[in-house]
Amino acid sequence: MITMKDIVREGHPVLTQVAKEVKLPLKDDDKKTLEEMLQFLKNSQDEELSEKYELRAGVGLAAPQLGISKRMMAVHFQDFDENQYSYGLINPKIVSHSIAQTYLSSGEGCLSVDREVPGYVPRYHKITIKATNLEGNEVKLKLKGYAAIVFQHELDHLNGVMFYDRINKQDPFTIPENAKACDQ
Ligand code: NI
Repeated sequence: MITMKDIVREGHPVLTQVAKEVKLPLKDDDKKTLEEMLQFLKNSQDEELSEKYELRAGVGLAAPQLGISKRMMAVHFQDFDENQYSYGLINPKIVSHSIAQTYLSSGEGCLSVDREVPGYVPRYHKITIKATNLEGNEVKLKLKGYAAIVFQHELDHLNGVMFYDRINKQDPFTIPENAKACDQ
């Protein structure tokens, strides 16, 4: 199983690389990696397991965070309306997005970043994603608000972008253009 020691931290070059497309149909070892990524997120949100294995709670994980430069990501979370999102995705791509932006008023965090980085991270308020799921089927997902933010954070990892790269350097708490806060 994946634990915190498997997760690479900021400063590792793999986190700034553009990850490679995954060949389909999905190979057994890629599928296993992606399944383990999803399981890690579930374990990290489980009170007993997270304590036992000292897992930091996470809602998303991208393969580069394991030192694997491939376009695969997992998410497992509920949005503020309690809709459940639980996916292992291969070669995800934003096919359309809103002009309107959003941001988490509490800022963002990352399992690869062991410190708080204050500031607003501008994100599209709505996105549509196409990807292949663990069963090998093409999926199209329409996401908004918190869910859109989580997916964009993980998609960024596939392009070598960290959340703090998007924070305004001069004034980290500048409200992004066309943006409303995404609040719980
Ligand atoms: Ni992250």
